[in-house]
Amino acid sequence: MSDLPFTFVVPLPGALPSRVDNHIQRRLSAMQGQFLDQVTYGKMLAEDDRLVYEVYEIHRPEIAGELLMGISIVHPGKVGREFYMTKGHFHTVIDTAEVYYCLEGEGFMVMETPEGETSVEPLSPGKVLYVPPRWAHRSVCSSRQQDLITFFIYPGNAGHDYGTIEQLGFRKLVVDGEHGIEMIDNPRYQGR
Ligand code: F6R
Ligand code: ZN
Repeated sequence: MSDLPFTFVVPLPGALPSRVDNHIQRRLSAMQGQFLDQVTYGKMLAEDDRLVYEVYEIHRPEIAGELLMGISIVHPGKVGREFYMTKGHFHTVIDTAEVYYCLEGEGFMVMETPEGETSVEPLSPGKVLYVPPRWAHRSVCSSRQQDLITFFIYPGNAGHDYGTIEQLGFRKLVVDGEHGIEMIDNPRYQGR
């Protein structure tokens, strides 16, 4: 890996970067326990292990001082009433932040702190979102037809803690409600 300055292009529309070192594809099977409607999840998975989201990563050393970049693409779709989304995570080094720049599509970033503070920020093309240190984050695609495409950048030493979110999910869910898109409380947190 070279330490010389470099450039790459993220052409629009499409946003497939001209440089890609790693391509991750997460399917329904990777989202076990995340969607609220587990019955529908099981039925959909039995039919087809559909692609939910993809990440194109630019490799850099995973150390403090470096910055990791890439493109995240969440495809349109729903499990029951809940829109397709990323798994979501805290950073292992919890006091590391992240910046997202929305390139295409419509959606939300669902966020929360370990203390239970929550935030759901709408994403649309041109919007920059700063995810402060300590905030877990999950991207949700709320368009019926279009991918939600974001560019992200975060510290090389951040790491990913998926385990905490895998237990109960996020406190807020984004669903296709009777009156349109709704942010609801995750019932799995009731009584906690
Ligand atoms: C990195 C980051 C993004 C996500 C990507 C996929 O810290 O937040 O690159 O990794 O949007 O989401 P996850 O990692 O939650 O599967
Ligand atoms: Zn992150």
